[in-house]
Amino acid sequence: MSAEKFDAVDIIGIKRDRGTLTPDQIDWTIDAYTRGAIADEQMAALNMAILLNGMSREEISRWTLAMINSGERMDFSGLGKPTSDKHSTGGVGDKITLPLAPLVAVFGVAVPQLSGRGLGHTGGTLDKLEAIPGWQAALTNDALMAQLRDVGAVICAAGAGLAPADKKLYSLRDVTGTVEAIPLIASSIMSKKIAEGTGSLVLDVKVGSGAFMKDEARARELAETMVALGKDAGVNTVALLTDMSTPLGLTAGNAIEVQESVDVLAGGGPEDVVELTLALAREMLTAAGQPDADPEAALKDGRAMDVWRRMISAQGGDPDAALPVARESETIYAPADGVLVELDALSVGVAAWRLGAGRARKEDAVQAGAGVVMHAKPGATVRAGEPLMTLLTDTPEKFDRAREALADAVVVAPEGSRPARKLIIDRIS
Ligand code: URA
Repeated sequence: MSAEKFDAVDIIGIKRDRGTLTPDQIDWTIDAYTRGAIADEQMAALNMAILLNGMSREEISRWTLAMINSGERMDFSGLGKPTSDKHSTGGVGDKITLPLAPLVAVFGVAVPQLSGRGLGHTGGTLDKLEAIPGWQAALTNDALMAQLRDVGAVICAAGAGLAPADKKLYSLRDVTGTVEAIPLIASSIMSKKIAEGTGSLVLDVKVGSGAFMKDEARARELAETMVALGKDAGVNTVALLTDMSTPLGLTAGNAIEVQESVDVLAGGGPEDVVELTLALAREMLTAAGQPDADPEAALKDGRAMDVWRRMISAQGGDPDAALPVARESETIYAPADGVLVELDALSVGVAAWRLGAGRARKEDAVQAGAGVVMHAKPGATVRAGEPLMTLLTDTPEKFDRAREALADAVVVAPEGSRPARKLIIDRIS
């Protein structure tokens, strides 16, 4: 006879029949699955029932809490300064964490940015930073704390101790067509962020072809769900809905995105990257009690660059070392005279991935120098035959598949049809 408190088949039946799980049932489900007392096929059926029938706000909150309680919870209260973090749902060319973390730290707000590696067409922050010679992603909790105290900003790998239930559940969702359930995405992201122990959190929820959420209504629902979860857990949380129909900046890859981030820290860089970095910095600083801070000045006068250099050095990186360069390149040219009205984010992301900047399986290595450099963005006037993009890789046999990904990525229209891009679509608090 089983000593288990509930029966997995009954739990599945409740969600299949559009019922509501009690807090006790949710706690048991997450704990039993983590222990192996609920089989993968049972959890897969439950996930599908949740995807189809949804969950109440109370259920999502409890599900998140149960995932947090499956592992350790970090505590930064001993630091003596406020903490703030940012999470992006992922996009093409999204290197914002790199300039943002040191920028916010300039103002005495500690930024514990626990990040992941990329899978699929969106790049991972750690993959980008690992292009810097010597830089190490793994830190012990003690080293993380010391760096937050001394430098103020850390970007490092999230340890295995944070929300282990999510790790197991996410792998299962990945192979059972249940990643897309909003209650499961929201609880997955927020369980890790709340367990990380940040005092405030700014979410960058991407909308568009290169994003996880292709349409605005679903992105909004995800953002609202996550903001509510953060607040329920006592974390001051706001979200920006931002455009991901075209890549951020002029680079999608690893070393080339580091270089673009350094350009922003030097007071230059592409307009959209600067705009989003500043908008997110202002949100983080306001959420951490510093509404009057001037992040624009800190980018211009080198203070953010100083913190960047110390942050990279503290993790073994050489901020002055030359970044890796791909061995081979090919150019894509503008097909006609006119205005570039579309440069599709997903296509560029897939091309960068196929060139070697991303991985198809968790265990794959990435090429530091691979990726796509864009020479024009939507709104620019172009002339037929002018370079539009440079493809970079160490393995030239990859060019053909990357070109295929870009076959429909570009639309050039006659003069006069200039598109208007609204980078920051909305703010949800
Ligand atoms: N990122 C996560 O961490 N979890 C999800 O479920 C989706 C994206």
